Amino acid sequence: MSERIYLLPLWIRLWHWTNALLIILLMITGISLHFADPKLPLVEFSLAARLHQIGGLALVALYALFVVANIVSGNWWQYVPKPPGVLARCWVQAKWYMGGIFRGEPHPYRVSEEANFNALQAISYWVIMYMIMPVMLLSGLVFLFPDFAPDRLFGLDGLLPVAILHYVTGAAIVLFMIIHVYLGTTGATVTSMFKTMINGWHEH
Ligand code: HEM
Repeated sequence: MSERIYLLPLWIRLWHWTNALLIILLMITGISLHFADPKLPLVEFSLAARLHQIGGLALVALYALFVVANIVSGNWWQYVPKPPGVLARCWVQAKWYMGGIFRGEPHPYRVSEEANFNALQAISYWVIMYMIMPVMLLSGLVFLFPDFAPDRLFGLDGLLPVAILHYVTGAAIVLFMIIHVYLGTTGATVTSMFKTMINGWHEH
C-alpha cells in the first residue's frame, strides 16, 4: 500500500498557482512589448502595456505575501540547502535526472515533511525566489516609476541597466519555469507532483 503525507498547506498551493498564472500573463505581455511588431502583435501594444503593469503590481503584492508567509510559517527553512554534503547530494540528484531516471533507477531522494526539497530543488528555488525574483520586481518597479532611476550611469541612459536587468531576470524566470515544469513530471508518476501541488498530499 502506498504511504502518503500531507506536505503542502493551502496557502502555498494558492500562492503557487496565482504566481504561475501571473508569470504566464507577464511572459506573454512581456514578449509582446519586447518584440513589439505593429503588423503582427501577439497582444496589441497598449493592452499589453496595461496588462503588464497590472500583472506586475499584483506580482509585487503576491511576492510580499510570499516572503511574510514564509517567515511566519517557517517554510523558508525548506529552501536552505543544508550542509554538509550539499554539493555531493546535488550531484547524485543531477546524475539521476541525466541518466538514472531513464534506466528506471529509484528516485535518490525521499521527500519528508521536514525536508520537502532535494538539494537541487532547494538551491534552484532559493536562487529564483530570493535572488532573481526581487531583482526582476525591483527593476520593474523602477520602470514604472522612472524618477527612481539614475539620470545617467557610466555615460549611458540611467534606464538602460534597469532594462537589461529586467530583461535578463525575466528571461531567467521563463527558462526556470520551462525546466521546472519538465522536472515536475519526474515524481512517482508523470502527474503525481502536479497533484501534490493541487491537493497538498505527497505519495511516496
Ligand atoms: C505552469 C507553471 C508551473 C507549474 C506547472 C509548476 C509546477 C510545480 C509543481 C508540480 C511543484 C511541486 C513540486 C515541488 O515541490 O518541487 C512546484 C513547486 C514550486 N514551484 Fe512551481 N510550477 C509552475 C510555475 C512556477 C513559477 C513561475 C515559479 C516561480 C517563479 C514556481 C515556483 C515554485 C516553488 C518555489 C515551488 C516550491 C513551493 C513550496 O513547496 O514551498 N513555479 N511547482
